[in-house]
Amino acid sequence: MCGIFGYVAHKKTNAVEECLKGLQALEYRGYDSAGLAGIKQGKIHFYKRVGKVRNLKELVFEEEVALEIGIAHTRWATHGGLTEQNAHPQLDSSHSLALIHNGIIENYQEIRFNLMNLGKEFVSETDTEVISQLLAYEYTDFAFIPSLVRTLEQLEGSFAIACIHKDFPDAIFASARDCPLIIAKCKKTDDIFISSDANALSRQDMELIFLHDGEIAQISAGIITLYDKKGLIIQKAFESISLCSKSSSKEGFEHFMLKEIFDQPLSLSQVIKNRFDSHTAKVQIHECKDLGQIEHIRLIGCGTSYHAGLLVSSIFEEMLQIETSAEIASEFRYKDPILRKNSLVIAISQSGETADTLAALRLAKSKGAKTLGFGNVMHSSLFREADLFIDLKAGPEVSVCSTKAFTSQIASLLLFALYLKQTIKGVDVALDTTFFHHLESLSGIVTDVLQQKDLIRSFAEKYADYENFFFIGRNLMYPTSMEAALKLKEISYINATAYPAGELKHGPIALIDETIPTIAFLGNEKTLSKTFSNLTEIQARKGKILALSPRHFTKITTITNDVIWLQNDLPDFFSAIPYSVAAQLLAYYIAKKRGKEIDQPRNLAKAVTVE
Ligand code: AGP
Ligand code: GLU
Repeated sequence: MCGIFGYVAHKKTNAVEECLKGLQALEYRGYDSAGLAGIKQGKIHFYKRVGKVRNLKELVFEEEVALEIGIAHTRWATHGGLTEQNAHPQLDSSHSLALIHNGIIENYQEIRFNLMNLGKEFVSETDTEVISQLLAYEYTDFAFIPSLVRTLEQLEGSFAIACIHKDFPDAIFASARDCPLIIAKCKKTDDIFISSDANALSRQDMELIFLHDGEIAQISAGIITLYDKKGLIIQKAFESISLCSKSSSKEGFEHFMLKEIFDQPLSLSQVIKNRFDSHTAKVQIHECKDLGQIEHIRLIGCGTSYHAGLLVSSIFEEMLQIETSAEIASEFRYKDPILRKNSLVIAISQSGETADTLAALRLAKSKGAKTLGFGNVMHSSLFREADLFIDLKAGPEVSVCSTKAFTSQIASLLLFALYLKQTIKGVDVALDTTFFHHLESLSGIVTDVLQQKDLIRSFAEKYADYENFFFIGRNLMYPTSMEAALKLKEISYINATAYPAGELKHGPIALIDETIPTIAFLGNEKTLSKTFSNLTEIQARKGKILALSPRHFTKITTITNDVIWLQNDLPDFFSAIPYSVAAQLLAYYIAKKRGKEIDQPRNLAKAVTVE
């Protein structure tokens, strides 16, 4: 996952400041450690700190570091603990080169073993160090590109790397195989940047080159030379892309997560703005005439994005009468799914960079399916690789814990369901207009939920000390409860298990007693009385219940007084959004009561670019 950043100025200058700025923008990709390296007077200089970029900054300022070119890294550890030894850059034994890396080298143990037999001594537990040591071993006669080619040929897995060598004090070398890496040149200054995603490049007028398929770049002042994976020089045109500047202000909120929860009335209205005209749903995609021929649909994603897919899969099936299923991308990609020309695979990803989702998308494409991406980041890998792309327009989501992207995914997929329904079955003026009005009303309904924040906070404080929870719901409230449980787990480190309410009696109810509360999601009219019965079964076993219930369902007070009352005038298809917003606030306030970090929870990263 990690962030890779590099900087080569056109005119000699201190690269450290740019590298730290770049790292700060990439910190959401991993914050186990941060490091920086450059060359001065023919020697590699490197600096590393465990933890966040601010720790590295302190070190660099203390030592008044100045470097002419720089490579910098924020790590999300895959191999080896969170120590300075394992932080990047990783050097070879003779400190002739320094290298930073994103990804996993699958055959690192074999390479390490071979190099150790040749007398190399390793100082870290990382797979990254084997690249540095192997590259140094392969390097001869000042021929860096051929040695890099030989090294990369021996590596299995997916990766992006950047490295410097003391014999080439003006150059950074970079390469990428199945991991994003961008080379950007500033049109005004000719300064060149390397970044693992566009977020760190949003400040200037940039021309971009995306490295693919083991391509290599050699970058020195104002000059980029490109090679294919065999080391042959290639030409690639710059892409001129206007990157929007990423707002990173909390706007007065204590955490990004809370700000992003409160962004939702606006982000939801963005999804549907100008998207219904003359009784017809409009989506942002063009040239999609053959969508009318679609025979079955698969929705793929990970984590929250998978939950959005799972939730809408039954809505798609009901509305379109087309077989639809949702799958976790990391599972889907190792199946041999039946996909044909008339299959539509919808990949959902806030970041557009999730390795598992991209791999599943590639599998779908290779099997001839039509692919559609729903993402929140323009120019991301998903944007570039899917046949069609729909921008969620939720605005930047900084908190690792996804909130507004989830509700925008659902609203956007509901709008797409309406569009597909009209394409396949034709327009029903009354029904379709009502459907769209329900979508339009969500923004106001969510505003009402947010106004209950003090009540939700008081329940959060009441329940914050429990260590285990059940989250239950039926039908569309089951994926809603899965997403709600994920929120709680992620930021408060509480064990929260989501279950379909009707399944509890098939085993898990054995766990129920007064120490395990149940958060019950009742926003599904079709299954309301059945869910109520399941709750009475919990109550009979002394289980505490906090219910999220429609206002009309006063019967719920016969089994619990802990109720968050939510609107009840929308059909079931639309309930997941207000219920999820209430659950986001609940998770937020529980994590806050427990004194957790919230925006950057331990062990996680915003973009999961490893498998
Ligand atoms: C959500 O709170 C999580 N941080 C995580 O499950 C996330 O949704 C998942 O990693 C997928 O990310 P994506 O949407 O960027 O592909
Ligand atoms: N595998 C490398 C490590 O554990 C890089 C991980 C990453 O991509 O963040 O250091």
